Amino acid sequence: MRIELSRYVNRVLGISTNWRNVIVTAGAQHAVKLLSQLLMRRRTVVYVENPTFVETVAPMRFQMARLIGVPIDNDGMNTHELENLVKKYGPGIVYTVPNCHNPTGVLLSRDRRKHLIEIAKRYGLTIIEDDPYTSLYPNTEPTLRSVSDDVIYVGTLSKVLGPGLRIGFVIVGGKLRDDLEKLEQHDFAASTLNQYLVYDLLRRGVADDVVKRARELYPRKLKELVDALSDYLPNTLLFKPSCGFYAFISTKVNAWELLRRGVKQGVLFVPGDRFFIDGTRQDTARLSIGSISIDLIREGVKALRDLITTT
Ligand SMILES: Cc1ncc(COP(=O)(O)O)c(C=O)c1O
Repeated sequence: MRIELSRYVNRVLGISTNWRNVIVTAGAQHAVKLLSQLLMRRRTVVYVENPTFVETVAPMRFQMARLIGVPIDNDGMNTHELENLVKKYGPGIVYTVPNCHNPTGVLLSRDRRKHLIEIAKRYGLTIIEDDPYTSLYPNTEPTLRSVSDDVIYVGTLSKVLGPGLRIGFVIVGGKLRDDLEKLEQHDFAASTLNQYLVYDLLRRGVADDVVKRARELYPRKLKELVDALSDYLPNTLLFKPSCGFYAFISTKVNAWELLRRGVKQGVLFVPGDRFFIDGTRQDTARLSIGSISIDLIREGVKALRDLITTT
């Protein structure tokens, strides 16, 4: 399984690694939880994009890490702001989703990638790169891990083969690899049966086939969402999504209230305040194209527009 995964990341993501540095976990969520247990204690400084993916940040909060939000724009995390914050709060961990960020859909620009790697070296920062979406789009940037072996890479098969399989992995070397290997054995959460299944799907090229089809389908779905937003809810996009599953919008009205009414009509989204580390901005929402059929995207945005205008 670990050999198959190392071949897969090499083929699909351009990451070359020895299979011994690939640790299998029960999804990316489990991977980040284990890394948080290993790397974070009370007051450990952790820099995260703000907004960020709420679920993976939860185990960091559980460790009582000190979360510092870094502003993000259409070029990804503002690394100059990060550097200023590091000067103020000191070295720590950077948790980032540089490709197809959740919830904003932005890509970290090339210049900022270079800068991020540079400041990580200069100030002794540990980078955790969470990367569920890169394989699904043709227009992404090379992963941070493919340019620096110091980066801890978190990958998952959830978006390629299905989230219910609960198979993800970490690529990491040295002592942290050994510690992670031991910690993973405390719960053996990654089902061996599912590992066998995923191993077989990787070996038979099924994951590669899915990736090929995804690279054709998801860009069309995302474009459909962006076009529908510009037709029915113009000027609501807070970020220009390049890839991934999401668009982050301003709802103008309270998104929880909107959701309560939307659910009754089959319109679902995640209220945006949950993605901000201080829980602000109840007037925002994350829309997803992940599982919805492309034919329903426009209809969904229209229904959302009707809900917003009658709130
Ligand atoms: C940035 C990010 N990290 C982690 C996950 C969780 O992935 P998994 O199902 O592998 O736990 C997701 C899923 O939405 C995600 O967007």
